[in-house]
Amino acid sequence: MKIVAIDGPAGSGKSSVSRAVATKLGFGFLDTGAAYRALTWWALELGVDLSDEDAIVGLLDSFPYSISLDPSNNQVRVGTVDVTEWIRDPRISLAVSAVARNLRVRDWMKQSARQLVADASFPGVVAEGRDMTTVVFKDAPVRILLTAQEEVRIARRAGDVASRDLAETTASVRERDAKDSHVVDFRTAAPGVTVVDSSDITFSDTVSTIVDIVRAGSNA
Ligand code: DC
Repeated sequence: MKIVAIDGPAGSGKSSVSRAVATKLGFGFLDTGAAYRALTWWALELGVDLSDEDAIVGLLDSFPYSISLDPSNNQVRVGTVDVTEWIRDPRISLAVSAVARNLRVRDWMKQSARQLVADASFPGVVAEGRDMTTVVFKDAPVRILLTAQEEVRIARRAGDVASRDLAETTASVRERDAKDSHVVDFRTAAPGVTVVDSSDITFSDTVSTIVDIVRAGSNA
C-alpha cells in the first residue's frame, strides 16, 4: 500500500488534483475534510452546539461515518443518509472550522483516516487534507504541499462559485485559511515535504508533476 499525502490551503485545487492523481495511478482517493464536514452536518442535525467541545467529542463513539475511496464516486454517508452534496453547503463550510479545532476530534479523525487507508483495496491511496504530511501520514513515502499564490487561489474559488463576487470570495478564502491555520500549519512545508506550486501551471501539468513524483517513488 503506497500512501501519497497531500496538504494545501483553501483554493489550492488539492481536492480535484488529488482525485485526478489517484485516477491516473489506479489508486484510492481519501478526502479527509469530508469527515470533518460530515461530523459538523451531524452535530447540526442533532442540534448540538458546535462550540461545546465535550458534546462534539461525545458524538464520536456512535458517529456512523463512511466514505468511498473510489476516485470516481466519493460517496459520503452518515448512517444510511447520503450527505455527499449536503456537506458542501456554505452552511457547513462556515461552521466546520469550529469542529476541526477540537483536538480530540482531530485525534479521532487521524485514527479513522489511518483505518480507512489500511482497509482500502487499492494498490495505493492519495490522502488529502491539512495535516496529512505532518501528522496523519507523516511517514508516507511521498508527501506534497500543494500551494498557489493567494490571488490565484481566490480567482479559482471565484470561478468555482459563480454566484460570489471577488470581494466576498477573497474574504472567505482568507478567513478559512486563518481559521484552519490555528491548529495545523499547512502553509509551510515540513522537512522532506515537496512543494508543488500550481500558480503558473495548468491543472493537467500539476497532476502530471505529482504523478511523476509518485512514480519516481520518493520526494527526491
Ligand atoms: O478541505 P475541506 O474544506 O473540505 O476541509 C474542511 C475543514 O476541515 C476545514 O476547516 C479544514 C479542516 N480539515 C482539517 O483540519 N484537517 C484535515 N485533514 C482536513 C480538513
